[in-house]
Amino acid sequence: MTERKTIAVVGATGAQGGGLARAILNDPERPFNVRALTRKPGSDKAAELSLLGAEVVQADLDDRESLERAFAGAYGAYCVTNFWEHFSPEKELAQAANMAGAAKSAGLQHVIWSTLEDTRMWVPLDDDRMPTLMEKYKVPHLDAKGEADGIFSKAGVPSTFLLTSFYWDNFIFFGMGPKPGPDGVLALTLPMADKKLPGIAVEDIGRCAYGVFKRGSEYIGKTVGIAGGHLTGDEMAASLGRALGREVRYNAVSPEAYRTFGFPGADDLGNMFQFKRDFNDYFCGARDLEEVRSIHPAIQSFDDWLADNAGRIPLE
Ligand SMILES: NC(=O)c1ccc[n+]([C@@H]2O[C@H](COP(=O)([O-])OP(=O)(O)OC[C@H]3O[C@@H](n4cnc5c(N)ncnc54)[C@H](OP(=O)(O)O)[C@@H]3O)[C@@H](O)[C@H]2O)c1
Repeated sequence: MTERKTIAVVGATGAQGGGLARAILNDPERPFNVRALTRKPGSDKAAELSLLGAEVVQADLDDRESLERAFAGAYGAYCVTNFWEHFSPEKELAQAANMAGAAKSAGLQHVIWSTLEDTRMWVPLDDDRMPTLMEKYKVPHLDAKGEADGIFSKAGVPSTFLLTSFYWDNFIFFGMGPKPGPDGVLALTLPMADKKLPGIAVEDIGRCAYGVFKRGSEYIGKTVGIAGGHLTGDEMAASLGRALGREVRYNAVSPEAYRTFGFPGADDLGNMFQFKRDFNDYFCGARDLEEVRSIHPAIQSFDDWLADNAGRIPLE
């Protein structure tokens, strides 16, 4: 019997890493073990993973030694940071450096870094199409992830750069779902004009990552973009309307208006949508749906996702 290789999963108690942990643990062939990293091994989510068969270990992305211990002896790792917990691109960069350094020390053979574009490569800081934020960024929660690609490469870590997409689950958990307008009709508000927004069911991010791990070394040193569909605001509104059994209108606003919405991160997200709108051919092209299906053939479309989740979208 060959010994199973271990994949250390950062964020296993969360959405992306949780999807990967479940994909591995639910595969009857089980070529890999899951080592779930968490700051809180005593949490309910950690207990759920343990029940599914994961090894749960304590680690903190701010503590490189804890990562070295957690990566030791593993074959690979899934690495992700959570910008929305602290709103600090510098912290994301420091955490990425800790993960890359620990991965190198542990001699990991394959790391998947959950990344996004460094938009400053398309919109330099002196380009006033969109405001510069936090002095050094255009889209802080994207730019630092893209910048961190270089940290993994320079550290000599055999890495795959997994370009993720907008979670459709944001309609449930991030307050981005349709809300009633003054006339009572549900409105999906996005600053995407008539452009297509690549989106994905978050559970499928981990399933795609699993597909990449299963392909061995094929994706090492490569960037792969993933999405379950590329849809315009009108197309998303139509799908939402069918799934909810109520009219849903696409309310196209400008990025300038979106940036002033006042919730934490509205300026960052306004710039993000503007980037996706203004560089739409690049952004969709980098998330090739055919290639994604070759990695994860059962990836959900927006309609598939809605069939299971429409009832969970808060509409007030
Ligand atoms: N929303 C979107 O549409 C979207 C799209 C693409 C990318 N993203 C990116 O996705 C990232 C968030 O991923 P997610 O949705 O999977 O997050 P999530 O569901 O909120 O979970 C966060 C995970 O990160 C772990 N974590 C956070 N800080 C940690 C630390 N210091 N040490 C160890 N573990 C830590 C948490 O583990 P414990 O709490 O158990 O320690 C938890 O498992 C963000 O950076 C965001 O920018 C979001």
